[in-house]
Amino acid sequence: MMANNSSATYNDTVVRQFSLAAVFWGVVGMAVGVLIASQLAWPELNFGIPWLSYGRLRPLHTNAVIFAFGGCALMGTSYYVVQRTCHVRLISDKLAAFTFWGWQAVIVGAVITLPLGWTQGKEYAELEWPIDILIALVWVAYAVVFFGTLGIRKIRHIYVANWFYGAFILAVALLHIVNSAAIPVDMGKSYSAYAGVQDAMVQWWYGHNAVGFFLTAGFLGMMYYFIPKQANMPIYSYRLSIVHFWALIFTYMWAGPHHLHYTALPDWAQSVGMVFSLILLAPSWGGMINGVMTLSGAWHKLRDDAILKFLIVSLSFYGMSTFEGPMMSIKTVNALSHYTDWTVGHVHAGALGWVGLISMGSLYYLIPRLFGRTTMFSVPAISVHFWTATIGIVLYIAAMWIAGVMQGLMWRAVNPDGTLVYTFVESVKATYPFYVLRVAGGLLYLGGMILMLWNTVMTVMAGRANTVAVPQPAAA
Ligand code: HEM
Ligand code: HEM
Repeated sequence: MMANNSSATYNDTVVRQFSLAAVFWGVVGMAVGVLIASQLAWPELNFGIPWLSYGRLRPLHTNAVIFAFGGCALMGTSYYVVQRTCHVRLISDKLAAFTFWGWQAVIVGAVITLPLGWTQGKEYAELEWPIDILIALVWVAYAVVFFGTLGIRKIRHIYVANWFYGAFILAVALLHIVNSAAIPVDMGKSYSAYAGVQDAMVQWWYGHNAVGFFLTAGFLGMMYYFIPKQANMPIYSYRLSIVHFWALIFTYMWAGPHHLHYTALPDWAQSVGMVFSLILLAPSWGGMINGVMTLSGAWHKLRDDAILKFLIVSLSFYGMSTFEGPMMSIKTVNALSHYTDWTVGHVHAGALGWVGLISMGSLYYLIPRLFGRTTMFSVPAISVHFWTATIGIVLYIAAMWIAGVMQGLMWRAVNPDGTLVYTFVESVKATYPFYVLRVAGGLLYLGGMILMLWNTVMTVMAGRANTVAVPQPAAA
């Protein structure tokens, strides 16, 4: 790896654009998250307006945080990493610019159509067919830029971060194209090409691999580049990273049926999903250990390097959620957790803790370098962000775990005569304090992100000021 920031050598324009967009969409997506969390506690916040209703804003939240915030962070960092590790400029500036503007068009399309209620009704694949076609075009262009750049590399060896980014790009193309196959009725409505339980299986093959490749593999690419860089240490084990790569991508593909336990899906398929989910613990933890152990011999750096704190703590949340996931995939455990807020707690341990923190840490590394500075405008603000985010995550996930287990137990409690001990609405009432606690956690997490936006704007402005030529005094 080398660090050469010359804009003549590398295309950093597109990296800058994606990085700024990631911070901006992060604030938007998380603000919508806080709003829907508040609506669950105080339903009046729907205001009786259809496009502000929970059912429409929820997919807006998931699309904004996963595809806008996460997607921009992934595309920006992958363009940065592939150039630095291959010692070559992106193969096409024009195509790279198309991926940026095309992706922003997809996001704006989502921001308009989801509140209008246009939806395919498939989770994480809600967008209607015209936008789906644009996604496919942008994604193919992204693949051409990424793999084309790998193809013209000056370094024979392909650094492992690129393997993970590459797997993420290929798998997402496959998942999106297969799962979005639909028959259009008009511009805003289509019906899935699959029916019944096949439709459900294709959807959760997509859904689970969206977790595995969008929310995991790409971010592991970030981990393999930015942790060694920030720690100034080589990756702990190169051999482990290769085993980690192949084991992870092979196993993820089979685990989808754990989303369909106790449904019309054949029982054997559910069991296959459960077994592969249990196996998945091993490669996941292999990756986590490889990242964390990169710091071995340099643990003291964690004490005062807030960026490293973001990167390493993200791995502990990754470890936590990839331990919890396999447990929840065991059918008897899933019988308790499914439909409850335990699932939402699990999701956000991964989303806020892993995806959020690793992206923030990587962006804090990247942004000053992209704007001609050595550090962010305010280094203490990075630390404040780290602590508010971490406390926010703990509040959010602890509230959801308690609420989830409580709901599961209340729903299955039966009297000796076989009648239910609790009505459903009693479980909703009991959940109320936990929903309020989640709003508090979400506000902290959002507050940290707003601080990051401020720090980013100040860094960009200070960077610009640096590059303005100082006027020379006229010769006497
Ligand atoms: C301020 C931060 C956030 C807050 C307050 C928040 C809040 C929420 C709420 C209230 C829901 C709906 C839960 C339900 O339907 O019962 C939700 C769902 C979801 N959020 Fe967030 N969220 C935040 C950040 C994020 C981030 C950063 C990501 C991803 C990177 C994310 C990914 C998701 C996903 C995937 C779901 C769907 C979960 C499921 O279907 O089980 N969220 N969020
Ligand atoms: C070894 C790794 C993992 C396994 C085996 C796993 C397993 C599971 C299981 C069993 C569920 C509940 C399914 C249900 O009852 O409907 C679930 C839900 C979910 N998990 Fe994981 N998980 C893993 C890691 C992660 C990570 C790292 C993330 C996020 C970055 C994540 C995001 C999600 C999401 C978004 C859902 C909710 C899907 C939905 O119903 O909308 N998972 N996972």
